Amino acid sequence: MGRLLIVSNRLPVTVIRKKGRIYLQPSVGGLATGLASVLRKYDTLWVGWPGIEMENSEENLEARMKSEGLYPVHLSKGEVNGYYHGFCNKTIWPLFHGFPQYTIYNEKWWSVYKKVNEKFLNVVTEIAKPGDIIWIHDYHLMLLPNLLREEAPEAKIGFFLHIPFPSFEMFRLLPWRRDLLEGLLGADLIGFHIYDYVQNFLQCVHRLLGYEHELGKLIVEDRVVKVDAFPMGIDYDKFKEIASSPQVEEEVKKIRKKLGGRRIILSIDRLDYTKGIPLRLEAFDTFLEKYPEYIGKVTFVLKLVPSRTRVEHYVQLKKYIDELVGKINGKYGDIDWTPVQYIYRFLPLEKLVALYRAADVALITPLRDGMNIVAKEFVASKVDGKGALILSETTGAAFELVEAIVVNPNNKEEVAEALKRALEMSEDEQINRNRAMQERLRRYNVEKWAEEFIQELNKIKEVQQEFS
Ligand code: G6P
Repeated sequence: MGRLLIVSNRLPVTVIRKKGRIYLQPSVGGLATGLASVLRKYDTLWVGWPGIEMENSEENLEARMKSEGLYPVHLSKGEVNGYYHGFCNKTIWPLFHGFPQYTIYNEKWWSVYKKVNEKFLNVVTEIAKPGDIIWIHDYHLMLLPNLLREEAPEAKIGFFLHIPFPSFEMFRLLPWRRDLLEGLLGADLIGFHIYDYVQNFLQCVHRLLGYEHELGKLIVEDRVVKVDAFPMGIDYDKFKEIASSPQVEEEVKKIRKKLGGRRIILSIDRLDYTKGIPLRLEAFDTFLEKYPEYIGKVTFVLKLVPSRTRVEHYVQLKKYIDELVGKINGKYGDIDWTPVQYIYRFLPLEKLVALYRAADVALITPLRDGMNIVAKEFVASKVDGKGALILSETTGAAFELVEAIVVNPNNKEEVAEALKRALEMSEDEQINRNRAMQERLRRYNVEKWAEEFIQELNKIKEVQQEFS
């Protein structure tokens, strides 16, 4: 059996340099955390950016990383600016999440994006061997499938997009729309979280490149390319196990005690404008206004992870959230009660799981989200089955977690009502809903997701051989 070569912008670990020390820290975000557990099953190598400019003196660390199958792609400051902060996070990210007003079209960033995709190509071609499965991830590397195809026409290449694929109306705004589609079509299998994104992609391919599909199969220069949906799962057993551990039990008791035994509403996100955090805070405000009997009885734990702190919109958003939290706390708070407990930093997994377990309600209302792994982690951590999930209909996860209270994140009234309903839901109903979701998450976990993707990729390769 060949090896599995995962290629993504970030490695599952980020190199951190602090106070003269250098060390590795797990990367944040659904991709890094979700995929880490797939590594165990395969002979896996991982190619990605270490998240920092490494110095020559740090070659020991690099050797150690390589011995663990982690191959860093080194990027200069200029490259990180044009590619990561620029094209990836100021062009693709906003446009693909439906924020055209935040999207900047910049020729220079585009050329750096191309250059960096070529850099990834160089590292991949150095280590790839015939028979390897090459699995490329996410919007940072949309040109890589075709670059690789040109170098190695026989290569087995899969691509998975972890963010939404936008409608044709949105995608057509990009000056480089055809290049990106052609880049992606270098893969043998292209995966998305849900069918809506598959449909959008197929429509763009049809309208911009003229390819017609048949049941998600396209013929691209005599090669069959398959496009399909693979909703990403989580490492269900890991969350269940951590959530049941005595340390977490202990931590849960501490959290509840610190919050004075009040009901807990929890939300956990990277600090990102796609997550709809201001609207969520306003909905909490509406809830307290409409139902003053909850004043002093419920605490909203708002946990945000710092993210892309060098991109302007994120900086502005952070300021706005700080103000809004202050406003709500000022409006309702008292000497012995802070309505919004705001945590803005990275927390280790055990602490996160303890928060999931301690919460009565998870309030997860992004404006747009490819999947949303946090919603799945919350449900998996509810080992006693108690707790209610409020989930926005504009997340990929809402297609699977149908027992959640599903809301339109723009409708503050609806979110406020959902909060009331969640807080007043009977235990039996909470347990019934959570058990149904847990069963689904257990069966379609992250390993199954990866396996199905890889199986499909192998199948499509066989079809291609028959076809040629
Ligand atoms: C999303 C993307 C991932 C990305 C993560 C964190 O989940 O789909 O590819 O790694 O956000 O963002 P960052 O910019 O810190 O890698």
